[in-house]
Parts: sequence; C-alpha cells; structure tokens
Amino acid sequence: MNNIKPSSPTRTSTKKKSQYRWPLIPLFVLILLLSFLLFYYYSLTPKSFFPVLSKISKLNSYKCSSQALALGEKFLWYAPHSGFNNQLLEFKNAILMAGILNRTLIVPPILDHHATALGSCPKFRVVDPKEIRISVWDHMIELIQGGRYISIAEIIDISSLVSSSLVRVIDLRDFVSIWCDVSLDLVCFNDSKVQSSFSISQKQCGSLLAGLHGSVDKCVHTINEDCRTTVWTYQSGHKDGLLDSFQPDEQLKKKKNITYVRIRRDVFKTLGPGSEAESASLLAFGSLFTAPYKGSELYIDIHESPRDKRFQSLMKKIKFLPFVSEIISAGKEFANATIKAPFLCAQLRLLDGQFKNHQKATFHVLKQKLEYLRQKSPLPINIFLMTDLPGDTWADTYLGDLISDSLNYKVYFLREDDQLVKKTSGRLMAAGHDQRFIPHSDIDRKHCFNQRLPDVLLYIEQAVCSCATLGFIGTTGSTIAENIELMRKFGSCSGQS
Ligand SMILES: *[C@@H]1O[C@H](CO)[C@@H](O)[C@H](O)[C@H]1NC(C)=O
Ligand SMILES: *[C@@H]1O[C@H](CO)[C@@H](O)[C@H](O)[C@H]1NC(C)=O
Ligand SMILES: *[C@@H]1O[C@H](CO)[C@@H](O)[C@H](O)[C@H]1NC(C)=O
Ligand SMILES: *[C@@H]1O[C@H](CO)[C@@H](O)[C@H](O)[C@H]1NC(C)=O
Repeated sequence: MNNIKPSSPTRTSTKKKSQYRWPLIPLFVLILLLSFLLFYYYSLTPKSFFPVLSKISKLNSYKCSSQALALGEKFLWYAPHSGFNNQLLEFKNAILMAGILNRTLIVPPILDHHATALGSCPKFRVVDPKEIRISVWDHMIELIQGGRYISIAEIIDISSLVSSSLVRVIDLRDFVSIWCDVSLDLVCFNDSKVQSSFSISQKQCGSLLAGLHGSVDKCVHTINEDCRTTVWTYQSGHKDGLLDSFQPDEQLKKKKNITYVRIRRDVFKTLGPGSEAESASLLAFGSLFTAPYKGSELYIDIHESPRDKRFQSLMKKIKFLPFVSEIISAGKEFANATIKAPFLCAQLRLLDGQFKNHQKATFHVLKQKLEYLRQKSPLPINIFLMTDLPGDTWADTYLGDLISDSLNYKVYFLREDDQLVKKTSGRLMAAGHDQRFIPHSDIDRKHCFNQRLPDVLLYIEQAVCSCATLGFIGTTGSTIAENIELMRKFGSCSGQS
C-alpha cells in the first residue's frame, strides 16, 4: 500500500479495501466537479479562499513544497543496492560526490541484502536509476514499518568527516520530514485514518525523490545516466566528454541492440556551479557502484587531484571509514575474552551468486594456509570462521573436517543469538548514534513503537577478523573480504577503545 510503483498491487487486506473504495468513488466525482468549477473561477478568485484547490493541485502536480525551496541548503541522494559492504562502497562514493558538489548528503538506511539490485555493468544489463530509486524508497518504507530501519551512519562512524566539515549530512527520515513535510515515522502508526492521508503524502514525496516524473525545475534534478553511458571524473586533466576506453564490443552491440557509448564526464562541470542541475534543491543519483574493469572504472573514476586541498583530505578520509566503536569493541572482546590466543580468520562466502561456483577454490585457499600454519604454529590452530553457509550443512564440507579434527584445529564462530551480539545490538541502540547529525533541531520525531534491535552479526564478525593475528583468508571477489583487508591495513583493532 505504500508502493509508489504505479503498477504494483496494493497490499491492503481486502477487508480494508472495501472500506476505502466505496466512499472514494463519489468523492472522486465530487473532486472532479469541483476542480472544473474552480478552474472556471480561478482567474477571478484568490487562490487562498479555496484550500481544496491547493490540495488537488498538490495531488496532481509534482512540485517541491515552498518550504523545500526556501531551504538554502542543497541536497544529494542516491540509491544503494545489494549487500552491506556494497552499500558501504556506495556510501563512500556518495560522500565524495556530496563533497565535490558541496551538497548535503542524505544518509540512507542499511537495506536488506536482496532488496535492491543493479545488474551487471560489463554486460550493459542494469536496472535504470529511476527504478532503483523507486525500489529503495519502497524498501525504506518497509524497513520503517517493520521497525528495522537503521541508518548506515549508526554502524559506520562518519563523525570525524562531519566534524571536520568535509561533508554535511542529514538522515533520510529527517530530510523527508523537512523537505516533504511528512513524518515517515507515521508509517508505523496503526490507525487507518492516519494511514490513508499519510499514504498519499508519502507517495508524493517518494515520487519526487525517485524522479518518477523526471526532473522538476528548481526542485529535483534526477540523474538518469548510469554505467552504460557515463564514467564520472573530477579534475582529471583531460578534456571533458572523451570516450572511455571500455565500450560495448560489436558482438554485444548486435546481440543486445545497444546504441550506447560510454563517455567520461567531469561531475563538477556537469552538475556543479553553472549547470542546470545546480539550481535544483535535490540532486538524485541512481546507484553509485563502481569497480575497476578492463583498465577503466565502471562508473566513477575519481582520483586524488593536486589542485584541491579540501578534496584531497576528503579522498584520504573516505579510503577507510571505520565501524562505530561499539562494534569494534565487540570484535576485540571476542578475540580477547573468548579466543584468548593468536588466531586465523577465515571469511568464506559460499552461497550467493557467483560464489556458489567457486566453493572448491575458496576451501582450497584456506586448506593451504592451514597446512602452512600447522608447520609453524603451536597446535591446535585457532580459527575464527565467518560464512554464509548454514551451520547444519557444515558437516558435509571441509568445515566438518576442521571441526572434527580437534587435535589440530579449534574453530570459533558467532551466531545471531549469542550474548555478545545481542549485547552489542542493545548498546548501539542506546549509544545515540541515532542523533544522526541533525542540522535542524526542530524536527518533531515520533519514534516507532516497534523498533527492533539491529542485526549486527556481520559487522562484529568483520571486527573480530580485523583482530586476527595469525592472518586473514577471505573470499576472492567478496566486498566483505575487501573491507576486512582495509580494516587490518588501517589498524582498526589496535586503535583506541
Ligand atoms: C557550500 O555550501 C554551503 C552551504 O550551502 C555554503 O555556505 C558554502 O559557501 C559553499 N561552499 C562553496 C565552496 O561553495
Ligand atoms: C494493528 O491493529 C490491529 C487491530 O487493531 C492488530 O490486529 C494489528 O496487529 C496491529 N498491527 C500492528 C503492526 O501493530
Ligand atoms: C534497436 O533499437 C532501436 C532504438 O534504440 C529500435 O528503433 C530498433 O527497432 C531496435 N531493433 C531491434 C532489432 O530490436
Ligand atoms: C584482555 O582481557 C584481559 C582479561 O581477560 C584484560 O585484562 C585485558 O585488558 C584485555 N585486553 C584488551 C586489549 O582488551
């Protein structure tokens, strides 16, 4: 019922539907009549005498509220997708874009792993930016309804970025409350009257943000370019508008009827001062995913530039964004109080997508490392294991061998219902990261009664792995592995607290 996709079926129960529908039909006719009448008299009559008209025009046209336009601030949002560590990569890119364009970054929630997907850039088969934005909005409403909304800034510590004024941020819920005048927390109020009026304004706001009807003058500028057509650069020293080195080959062009050409464009020149986008209150990207590919980048190819000091510090800061201290401490606590000895961390992604086909190779790398360690280290070797393979299937794999070989190996792992995980979850909720760096303190926020404790297992596991003194074995191609490598490189475990 909160979907803004026009084609989506409503989710209201049939019982509720019948309550709504009957009064709606005469109402609709009445509104239609009224609007004809008003249209007729409009030129003669001051608008303010007819509050209904403003309601109707609000419903039918997609415009920024005057209060949104009155804000001096300019905003930027984007549509994250896939798993947490992918979302973290996009978050970094978003901070970068917001810094370059001097816009306040709208901080999104952490989305469920399979809530949104992008597709494949190298295959030129990706979901349109608009469609991703729509699914992010819909999913966000679901998260609030389910009491599962947690901002990525509650898990990732961006306080030093914010305090050094390298970037300004606002929580998505707060943004919506200021910009659309809609309190998203109403979504969880269990009252049909509140719900139906809320539902309309919520959808209007979502339509604007997602760019359902494209860009709206001074209000929203939607970016519809994606990795099929565009590689964003900044101060690259090259002419703007050059062809990128990676293009669809003739075979692909023929097979997929592709007419795309990938062009390198300077993000500041295209969307910054003097551009059409600049005047818009909100700039909406689609996915901000990028990765190196065939000597180029899939979507964002921005590197340090000698010219801009502020930008240099920003680049340096976003190389590594740490987890909040509650998560780091939990990782340290597990290493120190439970394992209590040098250990190896093995991060094995075995199930999802491409990883399923590489199980053998993934196990093989671990096996080699363990055989090497067995020659050199006192036995048993302590192993901390994080994997997406459900525990009841371990017995049939190499993991089963490890666990049964207790002379040589001692295997540790964490589960969602472990005390440490629950405790950390509670600590996070209490820590007040949900102050969310609000620049406007006058927001009337009603907390949902059904807020649940956040799921923090994956983050704690990464923190434990950052403390593994015997080394780390990660799954090739996994963004989780990449993040753990970064944490280890930046000494995340040896830091304070
Ligand atoms: C960036 O934006 C802020 C707030 O809108 C403004 O005060 C500041 O002057 C801008 N900085 C630059 C370099 O344009
Ligand atoms: C909403 O209220 C109905 C009845 O008043 C109840 O059955 C339902 O569980 C409530 N839903 C939530 C999410 O609390
Ligand atoms: C290929 O795409 C163009 C427009 O992009 C379209 O006009 C044409 O009909 C398409 N051809 C095929 C074979 O699908
Ligand atoms: C590890 O745990 C011991 C007690 O179990 C404690 O004294 C020590 O301070 C802890 N070290 C760290 C680095 O947390």
